Amino acid sequence: MILQAHLHSLCLLMLYLATGYGQEGKFSGPLKPMTFSIYEGQEPSQIIFQFKANPPAVTFELTGETDNIFKIEREGLLYYTKALDRETRSTHNLQVAALDANGAIVEGPVPITIEVKDVNDNRPTFLQSKYEGSVRQNSRPGKPFLYVNATDLDDPATPNGQLSYQIVIQLPMINNVMYFQINNKTGGISLTREGSQELNPAKNPSYNLVISVKDMGGQSENSFSDTTSVDIIVTENIWKAPEPVEMVENSTDPHPIKITQVRWNDPGAQYSLVDKEKLPRFPFSIDQEGDIYVTQPLDREEKDAYVFYAVAKDEYGKPLSYPLEIHVKVQDINDNPPTCPSPVTVFEVQENERLGNSIGALTAHDSDEENTANSLLNYRIVEQTPKLPMDGLFLIQTYAGMLQLAKQSLKKQDTPQYNLTIEVSDKDFKTLCFVQINVIDINDQIPIFEKSDYGNLTLAEDTNVGSTILTIQATDADEPFTGSSKILYHVIKGDSEGRLGVDTDPHTNTGYVIIKKPLDFETAAISNIVFKAENPEPLVFGVTYNASSFAKFTLFVTDVNEAPEFSQYVFQAKVSEDVAIGTKVGNVTAKDPEGLDISYSLRGDTRGWLKIDHVTGEIFSVAPLDREAGSPYRVQVVATEVGGSSLSSVSQFHLILTDVNDNPPRLAKDYMDLYFCHPLSAPGSLIFEATDDDQHLFRGPHFTFSIASESLQNDWQVSKINGTHARLSTRHTDFEEKEYVVSIRINDGGRPPLESTVSLTVTFCSCGEDGCFRPAGHQPGIPTVGMAVGILLTTLLVIGIILAVVFIRMKTDKGKDNVESAQASEVKPLRS
Ligand SMILES: *[C@@H]1O[C@H](CO)[C@@H](O)[C@H](O)[C@H]1NC(C)=O
Ligand SMILES: *[C@@H]1O[C@H](CO)[C@@H](O)[C@H](O)[C@H]1NC(C)=O
Ligand SMILES: *[C@@H]1O[C@H](CO)[C@@H](O)[C@H](O)[C@H]1NC(C)=O
Ligand SMILES: *[C@@H]1O[C@H](CO)[C@@H](O)[C@H](O)[C@H]1NC(C)=O
Ligand SMILES: *[C@@H]1O[C@H](CO)[C@@H](O)[C@H](O)[C@H]1NC(C)=O
Ligand SMILES: *[C@@H]1O[C@H](CO)[C@@H](O)[C@H](O)[C@H]1NC(C)=O
Ligand SMILES: *[C@@H]1O[C@H](CO)[C@@H](O)[C@H](O)[C@H]1NC(C)=O
Ligand SMILES: *[C@@H]1O[C@H](CO)[C@@H](O)[C@H](O)[C@H]1NC(C)=O
Repeated sequence: MILQAHLHSLCLLMLYLATGYGQEGKFSGPLKPMTFSIYEGQEPSQIIFQFKANPPAVTFELTGETDNIFKIEREGLLYYTKALDRETRSTHNLQVAALDANGAIVEGPVPITIEVKDVNDNRPTFLQSKYEGSVRQNSRPGKPFLYVNATDLDDPATPNGQLSYQIVIQLPMINNVMYFQINNKTGGISLTREGSQELNPAKNPSYNLVISVKDMGGQSENSFSDTTSVDIIVTENIWKAPEPVEMVENSTDPHPIKITQVRWNDPGAQYSLVDKEKLPRFPFSIDQEGDIYVTQPLDREEKDAYVFYAVAKDEYGKPLSYPLEIHVKVQDINDNPPTCPSPVTVFEVQENERLGNSIGALTAHDSDEENTANSLLNYRIVEQTPKLPMDGLFLIQTYAGMLQLAKQSLKKQDTPQYNLTIEVSDKDFKTLCFVQINVIDINDQIPIFEKSDYGNLTLAEDTNVGSTILTIQATDADEPFTGSSKILYHVIKGDSEGRLGVDTDPHTNTGYVIIKKPLDFETAAISNIVFKAENPEPLVFGVTYNASSFAKFTLFVTDVNEAPEFSQYVFQAKVSEDVAIGTKVGNVTAKDPEGLDISYSLRGDTRGWLKIDHVTGEIFSVAPLDREAGSPYRVQVVATEVGGSSLSSVSQFHLILTDVNDNPPRLAKDYMDLYFCHPLSAPGSLIFEATDDDQHLFRGPHFTFSIASESLQNDWQVSKINGTHARLSTRHTDFEEKEYVVSIRINDGGRPPLESTVSLTVTFCSCGEDGCFRPAGHQPGIPTVGMAVGILLTTLLVIGIILAVVFIRMKTDKGKDNVESAQASEVKPLRS
């Protein structure tokens, strides 16, 4: 009985709250237009308003959309008798009129509007219990190919009517990879990236999804749900790159010629080709069937392979899928004749050269594909002029092109010059090349140096490369301007590094000795250089180079003070970030070319972490290191010679810090707004995330979670979801409406393990349509239907006080006419 009474007064209180009764003067008043908001589904027999009659009015009358629910007592008490249903009528337009004793209207009728507010009393329902669809293999991820659709009669402007779709099951599921995704708002089903890549009708032509829809935006534990089943057929993607095309160059067939084709999965696609090589001429085209053509003869010698792309677009010019790569290889035909190396190729042959000696090789060229019959050349002498003393003096090796003396030695006074016509042929073509053979004097004179010793030469070690340091001269009495008299100088001793070279003036045979590589006092302070002078033509039998063909000189290199040299441009070292102060973390070495001692120092040690031993170059830590402050730590090392000109050089030292577990775990964010709706209808849970600043190579962190205090363990439990996330759940539903602070221990399982205790503040609060109304220190808002007795009892106290104030005011204002504003307004919840 007591409970009954409570409930009744509670219902009244609900009304006070919903209609503004709780506010002073809104409980009753004279007849005027008013609006009331009432939640649907509430206890019936509720008072809405008490109209006050002004004489001569004595009674009231109610008309309009009463639906037999709204009633008015003769004395003006407006109430309703049945639970309202927003889905039946969301607004009731009523009229109230005041009548006199004779039943004649003396006031009104005035409009009274009842707005019915939604509660979540309707389940979402899928329009179909089964959906069927098909998707093309390799479809664009995220592009819906099928929509599921559910409806919910509740107000879509409130969470009650906001639906959220979700895939519950995908069958079959391979390696736990979801191939399908659903847009939780629109119900559009599309492929995931994995689905786009991996779906293959040859392996698995059909899939089944179970899809759920939840109201309350899917966010509440109290949401209603429905499920449906979706069958999906995967169809083959015919948008595939065609096989590489091989085509013969220089085709004489009429162009364009179809070479291959691509096809989009559906008709109506717009095809185009893209030439990513930016060719000056692009000899391919595609038509709107997807057939690809070559538009003109190709030339393998110009370009032997083409790669381009075929694109399919929709009617708005948007690509339908990825571009396909088209490969075209141009096959060789023998369409290039051999070519001679030059119009006339000149060789020299000495008088009296022996039979079989080689004279030189003719190398013709063929542009057709190498190592095929199209470019394999053979050589044949077709004519010799003059035919003196006989024809056939020369022969040529058929494939190598090497010319040799075939019959006898030649005499310059008989015939100083022969012209040969040589036929060079490949499979189909013949080319004539011309060779001129000059008979020259025999090489029976050796080059003779003007002097055998060029004396001493002193150079600084920094003498520029390219400088001419000496000229040398030899002479040769053979026929001028032939290979028998031309002189080539070689350094044959004293320069194993190849620092020197000699260039010959072809007119005077003067040799210029040039520095080719830098001189170095430290490795070669004195060099005894020996030159040899030689002819390009071999000497005749019996003649040899003698001492007159050699000359020497002595090179003295003087020292120039040079800066120390580091052995490396960059020195790298790696230490753990927790090394003790004073640990050796690395070393550097430099050498002074002059052998002076070196003093090391550091530059750019901005964090003051390091010091260097001036003598040994060893580097030590002088402060705690911290990987999280930045790794690698880069400083410069300086090596300065001690004495001399104090020259110095600089190198880099990079210290890589490896992580140690030195950061305790913490919450990934401020969880300021965790709440449960009070009272709990079922045990609830929340997910939170931890993090820390250490490096977690290869795998993420692996935190473990526990409730920190035993006293909390009866109310709460924490369970790990994965390495970073855990779920905090209530063990029961019996919580007070207040803030609870839950201490949770997080251990990072590192080496050494670090642990910290964090606090999560969880509020149990009354929930309205927009979430939580915080209790302590905040004004209460409107409770929703289904809200339990507890909250109302709390608010009862507040209301009681307000009523008391109203009552006192009414007493003090007695006599005054208590006129109210025309519109009664809803109490707006004060958000926390
Ligand atoms: C879902 O069905 C409702 C009612 O038939 C309709 O108004 C709405 O447009 C549909 N939504 C979609 C995405 O098809
Ligand atoms: C719905 O999807 C959006 C984005 O895809 C996401 O941010 C949101 O959290 C999802 N809502 C639910 C209830 O899963
Ligand atoms: C095509 O072949 C003919 C002989 O078959 C040749 O004369 C012509 O130069 C060739 N064209 C190209 C572009 O190679
Ligand atoms: C060889 O040909 C050249 C032209 O290339 C000509 O000047 C010369 O007289 C010819 N020599 C002989 C011996 O025919
Ligand atoms: C060259 O130097 C050597 C050694 O210093 C010395 O003996 C010689 O006399 C010098 N020769 C000439 C020509 O100066
Ligand atoms: C080298 O040979 C030439 C003749 O070919 C001769 O004149 C010269 O004296 C010889 N030199 C030496 C050092 O024997
Ligand atoms: C200096 O470092 C090198 C490697 O860079 C190492 O081989 C050498 O032993 C070190 N020397 C000293 C004295 O630590
Ligand atoms: C851990 O679980 C949370 C919540 O389920 C999820 O958002 C997160 O992606 C998961 N992390 C990993 C690495 O699996």
